[in-house]
Amino acid sequence: MKTVLTGITTTGAPHIGNYVGAIRPAVVSSKRRDARSYFFLADYHSLIKGIDPEQMGRSTLEIAASWIAAGLDPDNVVLYRQSDVPEILELSWILTCMTAKGLMNRAHAYKAAVATNEAAANNDPDKGITMGLYCYPILMAADILMFNANEVPVGQDQKQHVEMARDIAARFNHHFGETFALPEAVIEEDSAVLPGLDGRKMSKSYGNTIPLFLPAKQLRKAIMKIKTNSLEPGEPKNAEQCSVFAIYRAFATPEETAQLRKRYAEGIGWGDAKQFVFEYVNAHLSVARQEYERLIAEPAHVESILRAGGQRAREFSVPFIAEIRDRVGVRPLA
Ligand code: TRP
Repeated sequence: MKTVLTGITTTGAPHIGNYVGAIRPAVVSSKRRDARSYFFLADYHSLIKGIDPEQMGRSTLEIAASWIAAGLDPDNVVLYRQSDVPEILELSWILTCMTAKGLMNRAHAYKAAVATNEAAANNDPDKGITMGLYCYPILMAADILMFNANEVPVGQDQKQHVEMARDIAARFNHHFGETFALPEAVIEEDSAVLPGLDGRKMSKSYGNTIPLFLPAKQLRKAIMKIKTNSLEPGEPKNAEQCSVFAIYRAFATPEETAQLRKRYAEGIGWGDAKQFVFEYVNAHLSVARQEYERLIAEPAHVESILRAGGQRAREFSVPFIAEIRDRVGVRPLA
């Protein structure tokens, strides 16, 4: 039986790019019979981004509610909040002591922050960089190794971190004996990456997202704002380069997609294309959105789901951390 594990940082409500690229595949995978699935809300990771305390709770609620509303069945998977499993932090320190500093120097997120400082001609290349950011791949390794995960579905940008988790696990196993499974990243297809309002990849850091469960009116407004070119109605349009079309394709069947491609070639006007895509996406999401709104209004219920998931996660992590402690020599005297 394989273990599949993935986490999502609690820094704001999911957008439709997260849905297509991560949430929807996770829901499909959660129905696999040949795997145990662990899905968690990475609240300690969000501290790295300097999230404020109010926003943390709000974001945890929004993300948990989104996953459940999108069809993740908490009875079928272990759905939990990272901070409800304190063994992860304990493991994080043990792994920190097994991790070469040079490995962390090579992490993309850290290197990017240094590069930004250098470009700004700061005399301190580490300006504004916390140890949280620097050591973040170790915390992520602890998330993964705590549950002996075999498969880790992530976006391309997280591939390096999963490889680092694998390196750290191998080093630990070499020193202390076979303990951890070696995890592998499962990378989403490129087609699962959605463009945002401005045509670049939809991403919170670009501020070009469409939140997943926007009320219908606001969803329409957002779709109407998507950048298109200045071709007039009647002029043939290239569907492949159009964000509105890409969003439609992520939701529609191949036949429906082919039909809209044809209407682009025939010169559909931008207003009509956007209205059409809005109506389709809105209909597709409306049942889940109702469920989302119901869950958001009941934080105590969502809390109880997360607590129950945390308990199930600890059925694994508590005995496993005891074994790990023993291996490294953190043991009772008698
Ligand atoms: N770092 C991941 C992200 O930003 C989220 C994450 C944290 C994660 N821990 C993980 C993903 C463990 C997979 C496995 O997207």
